[in-house]
Amino acid sequence: MKKIVCENYDEICRVAADIYVKQLSDKPDTVLGLATGSTPIGLYSELVRRYQAGEIDFSRAVSFNLDEYYPIKKSHPQSYDYFMRDNLFDKVNFAKTMLPNGEADDPGVECARYDAELEAAGGIDLMLLGIGLNGHIGFNEPAVSYPLGTYLVDLTQSSLEANSRFFGPDETQPNRALTLGIGGILASKKIILIISGAVKAEIASKLFDGKIHTDVPACLLLLHPDVTLIIDRAANGE
Ligand code: F6R
Repeated sequence: MKKIVCENYDEICRVAADIYVKQLSDKPDTVLGLATGSTPIGLYSELVRRYQAGEIDFSRAVSFNLDEYYPIKKSHPQSYDYFMRDNLFDKVNFAKTMLPNGEADDPGVECARYDAELEAAGGIDLMLLGIGLNGHIGFNEPAVSYPLGTYLVDLTQSSLEANSRFFGPDETQPNRALTLGIGGILASKKIILIISGAVKAEIASKLFDGKIHTDVPACLLLLHPDVTLIIDRAANGE
């Protein structure tokens, strides 16, 4: 795992955006894997800014998001579908964007459809990941075994509490999600993991102590040959 330590969150966003500019210039028909949550928001604004400045073009790129609550309407402001449109998709020019469908009647059928779409696209060239406080990546929660393909997962109390901040008092927070499995993530050709803030320092330290903690899903990234960790000093424990 290559580690880039940044001064602060803004620098993480600029450093990560540089990687996207190069990736899309080298391979305009790139397949991007994308994440939601707070951490990528600044990166997405930076990508929008660079798109508006004519520095990056997504017109031949396609994207697959990591996860989506289940069940949830795409029109729900807390759906990841809505989040992606709001923060990125409506502001740049992707050829095609995909997320697991939180409105699907049958989650098993939806997971198989998503995996088939991803396989038909040739897999992910560049995957963006954040990390949960419990070490989850996508919504692969700490477990004794991890499904390879996309699956319906019961969210842990830690993830429900961490994400409850986004839901208003009158909004029901789904307690399940559809997520790309560990196989789908590790099959990505390149991975960028972004981690920001002192609140993430403890979980981030599990990536640096020379062990694979099997109850920390992000540690499985240590087995991948091309992961770039972009972390700020606070999350790096400084
Ligand atoms: C969301 C996702 C999650 C988040 C993680 C961190 O698509 O993949 O694994 O990356 O929950 O979320 P934030 O960035 O809000 O701390």
